[in-house]
Amino acid sequence: MLNRKPDIPGFANTVAAWQKSHGRQHLPWQGTQDPYRIWLSEIMLQQTQVATVMAYYQRFLARFPDIQSLAQASQEEVMPYWAGLGYYARARNLHRCAQAVCADWGGRFPGTSQDIVSLPGIGRSTAAAIAAFAYQERSPIMDGNVKRVFTRYFGIEGVTSERTTEQTLWHTAEVVLNAAPQNLDMTTYTQGLMDLGSQCCTRSRPACELCPLRQGCYARLHGRQAELPTPKKKKPSPERHCSMLIANQAGHVLLEQQPSPGIWGGLWSLPKFDSGDELLIACRKWADTDTPAQKMAGLSHVFTHFKLHIEPWYVSSNPNQLAEPLPTQRWIALEDLREAALPAPVKKILEGLFPASFAQADNG
Ligand code: ADE
Repeated sequence: MLNRKPDIPGFANTVAAWQKSHGRQHLPWQGTQDPYRIWLSEIMLQQTQVATVMAYYQRFLARFPDIQSLAQASQEEVMPYWAGLGYYARARNLHRCAQAVCADWGGRFPGTSQDIVSLPGIGRSTAAAIAAFAYQERSPIMDGNVKRVFTRYFGIEGVTSERTTEQTLWHTAEVVLNAAPQNLDMTTYTQGLMDLGSQCCTRSRPACELCPLRQGCYARLHGRQAELPTPKKKKPSPERHCSMLIANQAGHVLLEQQPSPGIWGGLWSLPKFDSGDELLIACRKWADTDTPAQKMAGLSHVFTHFKLHIEPWYVSSNPNQLAEPLPTQRWIALEDLREAALPAPVKKILEGLFPASFAQADNG
């Protein structure tokens, strides 16, 4: 059993056949050849689970049905439709990309992956996926899920984000595609690789017994599924701490627009302070002296490069007139909170305090 060889000429067809019978068929971005819709889904799906993307995708398309409507909108109008998805540079690049397609490509998405990759926010794998789904282009993809399939099946060692390993992976994906029959359906093959990586060839406890590639898979034959892809040496991610002020005055909450570029650029966050002491000094303006600010249960949010610990403080008062906010700040009525472009942890804090403000969103 140990000398089974990888099946290079049969690889793509095996994946495509499995996709037809076992892969996902009814995702909202399948069954279209519109590059705008495909591009949007691929950008949303970077670093984000399918289940999370679904609702965002439909809502975004209802508001921005084509690339022109997105290009004509301001970034301010776009951000609420991304708020909560995280990795906000994606939304800013998405907007810039729509404007570039309208300015430089006459409003039509470019027709090859080579041209698509020149657009803002689109890397080689995403460009190839768009071209495969929209135009049947024979270009390989290599995202995180697909890297797992290839490193395990072909026994490719080395940390996959390192240049030499990455080059080997891309080269192998090209060899596989060149060896595949001419009539290979690129949509099915490309989706099949993604589906296999997310449903079968999972990071931990892969379902090898259900995998169509099991007979020639190096990792399965050598019992090395847990060692491939080669794990990256983990640097502990730095920890940051901040305090956030929830100032509630007469049914309004104070929000502050975040500078762009920045992690939450364009979104509306709670006023943030380096420490609780700084917050307590600043919030005299928002407090009434009889009700001091109260510290609430903290929460943590993981970003790509650091972990943020948030200590929320709540202070409420009922003045006749709302205190004058800073130029970057705005008082938002509680009933309007659900419309605001809130970063995910801020939404979580406010949802916990004002559930009624968000409950309506679930009912339509
Ligand atoms: N992840 C990235 N692209 C995807 C797609 N088209 N379907 C499902 N998951 C994906």
